[in-house]
Amino acid sequence: MSKTINGFSKLTKEDKIQWIAAHMFTNSEDAIVVLKQYWNTDKKLQKLHDDFVENTLSNYYLPFSVVPNVLINDKIYTVPMVIEESSVVAAASLTSKFWSKRGGFKAEVISTTKVGQVHFMFLGDKAALQNYFVKKKESLISSTESITKNMRKRGGGIIDIELRDKTSDLPNYYQLHITFETVDSMGANFINTCLETIAAAFKREDIQIIMSILSNYVPDCLVRAEVSCKVEDLYKENATEYAQKFLTAVKIAQIEPYRAVTHNKGVMNGIDAVVLATGNDFRAVEAGVHAYASKSGKYKSLTDCSIENGIFKFWIEVPLALGTVGGLTTLHPLSKFSLEMMQHPTAQELMKIVAVIGLAQNFAALKALTTKGIQHGHMKMHLTNIIKQLGASEFETVLLNNYFKDKSISHIAVREAYEQLKLTGDFGCAQSPSEEKE
Ligand code: MEV
Repeated sequence: MSKTINGFSKLTKEDKIQWIAAHMFTNSEDAIVVLKQYWNTDKKLQKLHDDFVENTLSNYYLPFSVVPNVLINDKIYTVPMVIEESSVVAAASLTSKFWSKRGGFKAEVISTTKVGQVHFMFLGDKAALQNYFVKKKESLISSTESITKNMRKRGGGIIDIELRDKTSDLPNYYQLHITFETVDSMGANFINTCLETIAAAFKREDIQIIMSILSNYVPDCLVRAEVSCKVEDLYKENATEYAQKFLTAVKIAQIEPYRAVTHNKGVMNGIDAVVLATGNDFRAVEAGVHAYASKSGKYKSLTDCSIENGIFKFWIEVPLALGTVGGLTTLHPLSKFSLEMMQHPTAQELMKIVAVIGLAQNFAALKALTTKGIQHGHMKMHLTNIIKQLGASEFETVLLNNYFKDKSISHIAVREAYEQLKLTGDFGCAQSPSEEKE
């Protein structure tokens, strides 16, 4: 059974599936059924999805969910989230509702510039290179005129080109460091096309162009979101102690990278889910955000917190290069739907929404962690899923939920309790069956 193939990409979709099923699976018929059960019956829609990438065999579903009641700068949004992890959407929803009763989220875009670089090697005289660059700069910008025309009409384009001497880090290495404004588009294609055009116009026999590419590090495409309220409005019991614990949890994530990574992972649960739902590039966002979290030389929390004069304040500052036009945003029917559901936000508005959901997610995680613990909510969800898998009736579900209120939940414990319930009509013991055995 050969498992390598030449020219796989040239096979039809059907032949690709047949080859995979025949060579990678013991039961090829079952494998084909699994792939095909996710095909869309609307052939046009399926073709649209097939053509997003190469070698497509099927569709891979992820839940498309929504968070209502997200109040940002006095405007209410229903925000889409695409994520496989349970509890994340519930957490964002509860937090959004909580803050909607306390003035909502305030968000502002701090800056919107993006960067692209032409990396090149030059062995000659530095002053001569600087002279050449100064003389050439205007024509480098004008070489892109036909590409930047539409972008300039929308208020974007090339902001500046700098020559950067990086020879102290790598011998003979220089850059053209170029800043862009791409308005409502993420701008990756636009930036890369400009860079390659500029590189071609800059090239000389003694200049070796290594590569031209945008940077996903966007510390100057920055958004801030914040919530605040009186400490006493934060929690129903012992609000001062709770606020203090919450603040300490944030401070720990600022000084302890092991905690900071998990803390920020929780932030990204929210950010990635909205980025994905709107057809934006979550890998670009992830890379840029984590680089930003380490900008001081140490990996830190993306969020911060203060308690001053009885006021609790919690905020996030995060770089987000997002688009609401171009790319997949309007091509994928569900991204298009997402943007329409949010009343067609501009890229700046979307930056605010995404930052807010990141902050909401972190708030929910810290609230759970510093009070009941994270497993409390997770385990409730876990129990529901196990009960569903077991096929319990509505009545059995109520009994099982009650029974496990004060017991630790594991798959085996729930299964044993369910089996006992089926056999005897009750649980027959004070302890869960598996606990009794131990
Ligand atoms: C789980 O996906 C995310 C959390 O671990 C985040 C955190 O610890 O802050 C709950």
